[in-house]
Amino acid sequence: MESVARTLDSRAATEKFGAALGALLMPGDCVGLTGDLGAGKTFLTRAVCKGAGLPDDVYVASPTFALINDYRGARLPLLHVDLYRIVDRSDLYALGWDDLVESGAALIVEWADRVTDALPPHALWIHLEVGDAEDARRLTLRAQAGRGLTLVAELSRM
Ligand SMILES: Nc1ncnc2c1ncn2[C@@H]1O[C@H](COP(=O)(O)OP(=O)(O)OP(=O)(O)O)[C@@H](O)[C@H]1O
Ligand SMILES: [Mg+2]
Repeated sequence: MESVARTLDSRAATEKFGAALGALLMPGDCVGLTGDLGAGKTFLTRAVCKGAGLPDDVYVASPTFALINDYRGARLPLLHVDLYRIVDRSDLYALGWDDLVESGAALIVEWADRVTDALPPHALWIHLEVGDAEDARRLTLRAQAGRGLTLVAELSRM
């Protein structure tokens, strides 16, 4: 398990970090976002989508109600998923989860820790916490295998 911490001092810093991640994404990548309500998971996802080439006029909404938002028009297909309302494996199954993971899209998943082991082993995990200042966020990046480890290494360099 690789783990790297960093601080983002402003919304602009989160946008820059998210854009960098979006530029690195490849088909099949999986990004699990964790952290409390309002920690910045959706805000970060928006920046990731833009960094992956989603046009500025496409609004990235929170998938709290839709559960899955599917974005085309970026460099690669993007799936933005919210597991807040998902409590167990049967809910995941109802969502068509395995097909999403194998779709070849890059997957960005809020509340990714709702169901244990929902995310594949190659996932990049990002935990967000409100920092010392209101607009600061503490990030912890974690990965245990494959593309997740590559992304942690690449993001730690920037
Ligand atoms: N540095 C920062 N990075 C990200 N968001 C920030 C930052 N500073 C302030 N914010 C604000 O924090 C809020 C984060 O809200 P957001 O909807 O992204 O949270 P969330 O983690 O997706 O919550 P939920 O669990 O309800 O989906 C936004 O209003 C955003 O403007
Ligand atoms: Mg959200």
